Amino acid sequence: MILLSLKFTVRHESNHAHKHKLQQKFIIVSINMKALILSGGKGTRLRPITYTGAKQLVPVANKPILWYGIEGIVEAGITDIGIIISPETGKEVQELTGNGEKFGGNITYILQNQPAGLAHAVKIAQPFLGDSPFIMYLGDNIIESQLGQFVDTFKQKQLDALILLRKVSNPSAFGVAKVDNNGRVLELVEKPKIPPSNLALVGVYLFSKKIHNAVNKIKPSARGELEITDAIQYLIDQQISGVDNEIFVEASTLEGWWLDTGKKDDLLSANQIILDTRITNSINGEIDSQSQIIGRVKIGKNTKLINTSVRGPVIIGDNCYLENCFIGPYSSIADNVTLIDVDIEHSVILQGAKIIEINQRIVDSLLGRRAKLINALQRPKALRFMIGDDSQIELT
Ligand code: G1P
Repeated sequence: MILLSLKFTVRHESNHAHKHKLQQKFIIVSINMKALILSGGKGTRLRPITYTGAKQLVPVANKPILWYGIEGIVEAGITDIGIIISPETGKEVQELTGNGEKFGGNITYILQNQPAGLAHAVKIAQPFLGDSPFIMYLGDNIIESQLGQFVDTFKQKQLDALILLRKVSNPSAFGVAKVDNNGRVLELVEKPKIPPSNLALVGVYLFSKKIHNAVNKIKPSARGELEITDAIQYLIDQQISGVDNEIFVEASTLEGWWLDTGKKDDLLSANQIILDTRITNSINGEIDSQSQIIGRVKIGKNTKLINTSVRGPVIIGDNCYLENCFIGPYSSIADNVTLIDVDIEHSVILQGAKIIEINQRIVDSLLGRRAKLINALQRPKALRFMIGDDSQIELT
């Protein structure tokens, strides 16, 4: 904590940006902030895709959701990252994500044997976290804001918990906060039937070591999980009741977008927003003279386009083959995909999928890895799909 006070002194004494940055770095290293990313769970709301893969690895704009979180954390200056994995999908997460080197960080994998809740994840991560303050990040969440600003607030105010809130239209689907006029958090309730406000808890939290005592004190909720919401409520109660006046819990409200990609439509929205904000033109592969590319489009290596129009924002991976197609805005086509006589828009097509001769436009769809969709002879009004890995659909 002495080092944190030093930070204020530095800020007042020096306006020199470079020196300031160096000092800040020094302090970040000194207090050794860590990160805990949750990438376990069963992903029930994204079935059937998640029967065969981790929900956090489903790509958004051809990059696993999980990686956005890792990149954001490293960007905020935190490089010591623990990732909670499950027995079902942990190996896949580990193999694809690696030891953190490619992100400029250092990743430790922590196995959670059963999905016993977010607070349970903190409990089993205690040996990794030690006494370090940490950011906890749910691996299927993506937020627009940079994390650095929250890390700064947390450190400067020497908080024990900083939660992020965002106004939503369906608060009952989330943890919900009741906040007083001064922004002080009074109460948190997990998935309330009658929500005390429309402020949902975003899946990004910052904690001091005091959270460990809280997670050890709480009991499982009605859904049988140790809820992080209850652990934070425990801290608030300790403070309000005067048992520990030195506990500080605060909330920051997010203005920018927040995506919890646990469901198909959320995933498609995430895909749309990321394509809108982060895709720049870059065309590799072979494009024949009959093909047309309009707007921001990224096309990978060894991909072939024949008589195909692409209207961005769109991303197409490596080794794809597209013939007689129209690829409309907000589509992400992963590597090794074959599309022939297909009209597609606002959809995510995963690795190795094949779509051939579908006469109707495909919209708002998510196709799993190696899924096959072949031949529509009739003309339905529209086609809307959620197709799992290895499935095969023929419209005859
Ligand atoms: C969890 C938290 C909830 C939070 C949500 C954000 O819910 O328990 O408080 O609002 O993440 O994504 P879950 O996804 O486990 O249902």
